[in-house]
Amino acid sequence: MNTIVITGGSRGIGASTAIECARRGLGVILTYKSNPDAAAGVVSRIQAQGGQAVALALDVGDASGFAAFRESVINALDATWNTSELSGLVNNAGYGLYAPIETVTEDQFDGLMNVLLKGPFFLTQALLPLLKQGAGIVNLTSATTRVATAGVAPYATFKGGLEVLSRYMAKEFAERKIRVNAVSPGAIRTELGGGLNAEFEALLASQTALGRVGEPDEVARVIASLLTEDGGWINAQSIEVAGGYNI
Ligand SMILES: NC(=O)c1ccc[n+]([C@@H]2O[C@H](COP(=O)([O-])OP(=O)(O)OC[C@H]3O[C@@H](n4cnc5c(N)ncnc54)[C@H](OP(=O)(O)O)[C@@H]3O)[C@@H](O)[C@H]2O)c1
Repeated sequence: MNTIVITGGSRGIGASTAIECARRGLGVILTYKSNPDAAAGVVSRIQAQGGQAVALALDVGDASGFAAFRESVINALDATWNTSELSGLVNNAGYGLYAPIETVTEDQFDGLMNVLLKGPFFLTQALLPLLKQGAGIVNLTSATTRVATAGVAPYATFKGGLEVLSRYMAKEFAERKIRVNAVSPGAIRTELGGGLNAEFEALLASQTALGRVGEPDEVARVIASLLTEDGGWINAQSIEVAGGYNI
């Protein structure tokens, strides 16, 4: 069975991606940071639908823990799937920060950079030896990189960095036929940045050509395609999944 790692699989887009990938026959290792119960709930849901999943703890903002995490992944792969290889990695974990540039503190800046950019860089480096020939990597970026939305400058900047990194990963990992793509969601109904209230949702819907916010499974289906045969000839791309955000 092909197996993948999804960071931030306890909620939102990551949880939907875990469920969708399992539905397509992939074994799923999903990670959580502060919500073990939610992660266990996603594992139970996948198992109830006949799939296989394991939840592991991971702080994507602390690269010093990545070597130990790789050992946990190796153990889970062996114990659950009797394999030593991964066929995919989804760098999804993230959080939002809403603050104008003039008020952003250095701690806020560093914390966000560690999770959104440094984490995906060094986690991918740590798991690279486990990724098999022809594996797929998907990095979650954001449609905020294409526009300028006041209040999310550090967030959009690090996501923009991750988009560039995705292309460079595709270049360097091509030797092993590993495909790397960025998936760039628009406004999606999750708990990111405290979630949506009616007023905020209406504003985001008005900025979206299709007139509503997106649902997590609408992003999950695109990510799952990129990790399976459907997306086998898509490489080094940034794919916006946003219903036409701010066009
Ligand atoms: N929702 C949107 O509109 C939108 C738009 C563009 C891009 N995105 C991107 O899509 C990705 C998923 O976002 P979402 O909307 O699904 O967010 P969400 O519902 O808030 O879920 C965030 C997930 O990331 C995990 N996480 C947060 N900080 C972490 C850390 N330091 N280490 C490890 N895991 C961490 C959380 O784990 P715990 O719950 O266990 O702490 C949770 O599973 C993010 O990269 C986000 O930037 C979202």
